[in-house]
Amino acid sequence: MDSLLIKGGVPLNGDVTISGAKNAVLPIMAATLLTAERCVIRRVPDLSDVKFMAQILTSLGAEVKLEGDTFTVCAAKINPVGDYDLIRKMRGSICIMGPLLGRLRKATVSLPGGCVIGARPIDLHLKGFQALGAKIKIEAGYVHATAPKLKGGDLFLGGRAGPTVLGTANIMMAASLAEGVTIIESAACEPEVVDVANFLNAMGAKIVGAGSPTVTITGVKKLHGAEHEVIPDRIEAATFAIAAAATNGEVTIHGARADHLHAVLDKLREAGVKIERNGASIKVKRNGKLKPVDITTLPYSGFPTDVQAQMMVLMALTPGISIITERIFESRFMHVSELARLGADIAIEGPSAIIKGGKPLSGAPVMASDLRASAALVIAGLAARGKTQVNRVYHLDRGYEKIDAKLRKLGARIERVQET
Ligand code: EPZ
Repeated sequence: MDSLLIKGGVPLNGDVTISGAKNAVLPIMAATLLTAERCVIRRVPDLSDVKFMAQILTSLGAEVKLEGDTFTVCAAKINPVGDYDLIRKMRGSICIMGPLLGRLRKATVSLPGGCVIGARPIDLHLKGFQALGAKIKIEAGYVHATAPKLKGGDLFLGGRAGPTVLGTANIMMAASLAEGVTIIESAACEPEVVDVANFLNAMGAKIVGAGSPTVTITGVKKLHGAEHEVIPDRIEAATFAIAAAATNGEVTIHGARADHLHAVLDKLREAGVKIERNGASIKVKRNGKLKPVDITTLPYSGFPTDVQAQMMVLMALTPGISIITERIFESRFMHVSELARLGADIAIEGPSAIIKGGKPLSGAPVMASDLRASAALVIAGLAARGKTQVNRVYHLDRGYEKIDAKLRKLGARIERVQET
């Protein structure tokens, strides 16, 4: 397993370009199963999760080609059973269920494992499929869904933690080929859901309201091939913005959508970070002393849970008390114990982390646990004095394209070490 070796204390300076959004491209790749015709997806990030999804589509019978940042696929003949081991390994693979149900009226996928950030149930996905007439059976770790007739229906998709992003995408995909009209109430409003809806509409689907809590899908008989460029990754953009602030550097982020980042940019400004927007680029630098802020993660357009860990690092560097409350996942504080090894003073009280910030961080070996916690540890290593070794970097490679190369280009002293 690879590690990243970081020598901290260097301000990041320069320009970075944001890649395509992981959380848009995964459901969009799954959506290509809805047609027998060729689809071309552009601005596909070079991530292990993308390679995984390509393997899953291949295991279902699709012909796929990943060349640079372009993904070409033709799902002319597909079967309804996904590869158990492949699907278990990546939570995002659950979003092949909707397309398989829509296209073949049946689907068999393995129950996606939970992960370190929470149980990750799929009850809302299954509730949605049942509202469209699907029969669901769970047996030996598989979910079997069959729907001789897929009929549009009205459903409320909100759960105990609010809407479901992939659940909304899944139901939109199945409903696109159902008979009649489906209305999803309490749909997720994330930009990635809008991107999926835009791709489906390019394929001939009839979806209105994506990005709002009420999405209406009028089923059609068939969908055709389409081309689509994936939106930029707002979480990657937020990660680099926070890294610039944490290292007291000045970074211009190109290709990001500032309109997808309102909550993050608002909190960064409140924390004393200067944000200058100039067309499609965002310049980030500190604006004097950092100030403590309180954050609660919420469904979009609230502060994103995927930026919580990264923001905690900035607050650990900020003199004063900051409170970060995680309302989306039940255990998304795995990074706290690792940050403590670098000298951060953070106490967990139920869903909240109380950060007593301002002490300088000093490098140490740390263990990555999940994708965003790993990004937080890299930022902490960049800001800390001395050397930090981040182990199990495969977590990072799932969701950040060439992050060490992009950071090196900004002046970071960071290198990847292949563990023998
Ligand atoms: C997507 O996961 C993202 N992943 C996650 O990003 C992101 O954190 C999450 O949305 C929330 O924004 C992808 O898009 C591949 P949810 P998803 O269903 O769709 C509960 C990252 O780091 N819930 O919106 O799986 C669930 O337990 C990853 O890039 C149910 O209760 O998340 C959670 O508490 C991490 N029942 C909340 O809803 C369900 O059927 C939100 O989950 C589904 C979800």
